[in-house]
Amino acid sequence: MEFRFTNAASVGEAEIHPFHQGGKSLLLVRQGGRLYCLDNKCGHFGAPLATGKLTQGAIQCEVHGISFSLETGQVVNRPWERCRSLGVYPVREEGGDALVDLPDA
Ligand code: FES
Repeated sequence: MEFRFTNAASVGEAEIHPFHQGGKSLLLVRQGGRLYCLDNKCGHFGAPLATGKLTQGAIQCEVHGISFSLETGQVVNRPWERCRSLGVYPVREEGGDALVDLPDA
């Protein structure tokens, strides 16, 4: 299912923008001029990542410090048992909006 996030051009560099769609809590993040869409739920104990910190190519959960790749959703800073990767969803920008390819509910 393709979801149109209107006015995505307003998501500035290094901003983390949480939103809900199809029963999922998601994030739109811009880094290096590019938009990324990923789950707003840490793969460790499920904390919201919207309050996390962006680092180079990753988002870091503020609770225990695990970082997830914006590109793949995989843990990048250390191996951690019982920590799942995040879902990441393809995004393309079109006319100031973002078109996000989400899995069907
Ligand atoms: S809940 Fe996010 S790192 Fe533990």
